[in-house]
Amino acid sequence: MKVFIVYCHPSEDSFTREILRSFTKGIEDSGGEYVISDLYKMGFDPVMSEKQYLRDAFYKTEPEVEPDIIAEQQKIEDCDVIAFVYPVFWTEAPAMLVGWFDRVWSYGYAYGETKSMKVVDKALFLVSAGNPIERLEEFGLLDAMKKVMLGDRFNGRAKEKEFIVFDSTSRETGLRQIEWDAKLKKAYEAGRDLCSN
Ligand SMILES: Cc1cc2nc3c(=O)[nH]c(=O)nc-3n(C[C@H](O)[C@H](O)[C@H](O)COP(=O)(O)O)c2cc1C
Repeated sequence: MKVFIVYCHPSEDSFTREILRSFTKGIEDSGGEYVISDLYKMGFDPVMSEKQYLRDAFYKTEPEVEPDIIAEQQKIEDCDVIAFVYPVFWTEAPAMLVGWFDRVWSYGYAYGETKSMKVVDKALFLVSAGNPIERLEEFGLLDAMKKVMLGDRFNGRAKEKEFIVFDSTSRETGLRQIEWDAKLKKAYEAGRDLCSN
């Protein structure tokens, strides 16, 4: 089982980084393989250029997309499962990850009559959120996040889809510390179960 992890967080000093560590340990312990695109560390450029806009919005396959995008698309082609690990920023993924979708989901690859993107076995989201789950559910925010990721970005692009939220991770309350170990165990198991099933 090969897992392609797209990781996006600006700081090493973060709970999300710990989620990534536990998740990858679970994959390793069950004999799986993974590659990571750590978007901040790579200095990934999330900004769509006019050149790519004119290509994608006009349904053209020329000119070829930039080499950094071809590299990301190749990682998708080489994996069985794609996993995203990130914190919720304003009920979305961090801007760098949103831009990753803008650019990597290019015309002719992710959409269009001649799209060539493989259908992955699974798209898995491991998402940390400062708010408690009740607050995220109150206004339908969690549902909105799931709909965007699973219903739009992975519509027809994954056989299975799962969205796991690690809630109450804000430094504002004591819950972050109290539930720390249990959450990391859950992240570990998500990696382990992915590759042992
Ligand atoms: C700019 C910014 C926006 C955020 N927006 C949200 C939000 O909309 N909903 C939420 O539940 N948490 C929000 N958070 C909290 C993050 O999700 C939180 O920092 C993270 O889950 C805690 O883990 P970390 O230590 O990895 O940053 C936000 C944090 C930042 C810095």
